[in-house]
Amino acid sequence: MYSQNISEEELKNKVANDFFHHKIFNHTRIIGKIDFCISYDDKSLFHQINFLWAEAKKGNTADLIESFVQLILTIGKERTFEENLPPIFLGAFDCEKIAFLEWHEIQGVFSQNDFNWNVAPSNHESKEFLQLYKDIQQNIESKKLQFDFSHDKSQLELFIKENFTLINKNLQKIQITKNNFVYVYQRWHESVKPSISLDFEAEKPDILESDFYLADLLSHDNSTKEIMQNLRILLERESYKINLERTPSGRLNFSEVSFNDNQKAHTTFWAIYERPPEEEYWDYILERRDLLVPQDIRERKGSFFTPQIWVNRAQEYLEKALGEDYQDEYYIWDCAAGTGNLLANLTNPRNIFASTLDKADIEILKERIRNGTNLLENHIFQFDFLNDTLFDKACNNHQESFDEECKYCQKSKLPANLIEILSDEQKRKKLIIFINPPYAEASSYGGNGKPLVANSTKTYEKYLSLVGGNAMNELFAQFFFRIYQEIDGCILAAFSKLKYLNSTNFITFRSAFQAKFLKGFICPAYTFDNVKGSFPIGFLIWDTSVKENNEKEK
Ligand SMILES: C[S@@+](CC[C@H](N)C(=O)[O-])C[C@H]1O[C@@H](n2cnc3c(N)ncnc32)[C@H](O)[C@@H]1O
Repeated sequence: MYSQNISEEELKNKVANDFFHHKIFNHTRIIGKIDFCISYDDKSLFHQINFLWAEAKKGNTADLIESFVQLILTIGKERTFEENLPPIFLGAFDCEKIAFLEWHEIQGVFSQNDFNWNVAPSNHESKEFLQLYKDIQQNIESKKLQFDFSHDKSQLELFIKENFTLINKNLQKIQITKNNFVYVYQRWHESVKPSISLDFEAEKPDILESDFYLADLLSHDNSTKEIMQNLRILLERESYKINLERTPSGRLNFSEVSFNDNQKAHTTFWAIYERPPEEEYWDYILERRDLLVPQDIRERKGSFFTPQIWVNRAQEYLEKALGEDYQDEYYIWDCAAGTGNLLANLTNPRNIFASTLDKADIEILKERIRNGTNLLENHIFQFDFLNDTLFDKACNNHQESFDEECKYCQKSKLPANLIEILSDEQKRKKLIIFINPPYAEASSYGGNGKPLVANSTKTYEKYLSLVGGNAMNELFAQFFFRIYQEIDGCILAAFSKLKYLNSTNFITFRSAFQAKFLKGFICPAYTFDNVKGSFPIGFLIWDTSVKENNEKEK
């Protein structure tokens, strides 16, 4: 069909313009020394999706099998498939004909390790070339799909239309790993989120956009159920199910959310990415799902995550302060655990307890246990440390005799063995409250109709008169003071701002909070993701069984 006299370059341009002109194709990309590449045209992709890598020859005398062998030697020499997603097809063409071969038909060739890939691919006489030709000739011959540019034009066009698409099941999809899951979320946010029929703004912060992404990501055949049943949102084929009886704010008037475009954007998007990701990444993705939550919401809940380097150092300092057997000799309770970052790598789960505000975090913690995290499921519980009661609390009617049936009596959410530790003075001395509490301040809230978090807690009300409003405006100070008052004698090992040591706002707090400083270190706030500012964050270990006046010590 094309003139025999045109150069290889011109031939490539003509083939690209005549057959791969559709806007979804990019034919300008150069990958290594491969003559002709057709990829999916989306520059925002993390990895390019490739449809075709081909060898081109001018004239009409090319033996297409030889062209395929040359192409395979080119790819094998450069190991192009290690840095790029392999294409659906390899191809070979001259001015008369074009042939395609599905990648998976020959990919085994690249794993032969006794083959010398270092030869010049264009030398058709080399020992390696001839050997490869002999080895794969028959396979190529029987599997290749060949078209004559003139006689088979319409069949060729149809073949390209049907096979060069994102829904080709042989398409090599982009793998999602711990390195790119946030990036892929941003792409999802642009492409899929607008097609979900929900007013996300109105539902914040109860229902997050990222929960829908996680449902999509951790699913197989459009179903989250087989993989992970505890996420807040589950994907069930053509719609999402809200997997919550109540949202944290108590209201929930819908249980299903569908798509406004017949799931078109969703299908196109997930045709590109492989899901679910490899199981080895699930734990990490769930643990770091905070990275997907918009800044304002994370700040409202005071959540950010302690970087692993500071978790490790904190555990080293616990060992320095309490001895190398501290994990066996002490109980540990993280009562602001989030998804359990601080407790990573601790070795004695029988002595460890974890509680946190969000039920969803608890579900994730439990999921992590099922994936191997060294914690006990019955030592993990939802608990609002600033509002919930530590011990069973009888109502006015029942006075001292707590009544399980009475709706005004408050039942403790703590496991019985933890209540036992809290109730025993000696055991309390063997309890480490190991926390990185939320740092939100009451003064940062109240605008835009958002709740005032810090000064609406029971702890605030209870201890306001003892330590004053300035100190109690800080959530971390409320944690500290409740611990100091109600878990007297324990070891408090906590990350926090250092205001409580040096600010004049904390003078009353300091005279009331009397404890012995054991050990600690300071790290810059900017090393914590999602914390703004250049203030120091301290990790200080206090023995609250020894009363020392820190106002004077200062
Ligand atoms: C700074 S994050 C620390 C999370 C995790 N322990 C870490 O170090 O990565 C504080 C955690 O405390 C939780 N939290 C906030 N208020 C709480 C409360 N009243 N009771 C219990 N947990 C709370 C937040 O949801 C968040 O997960």
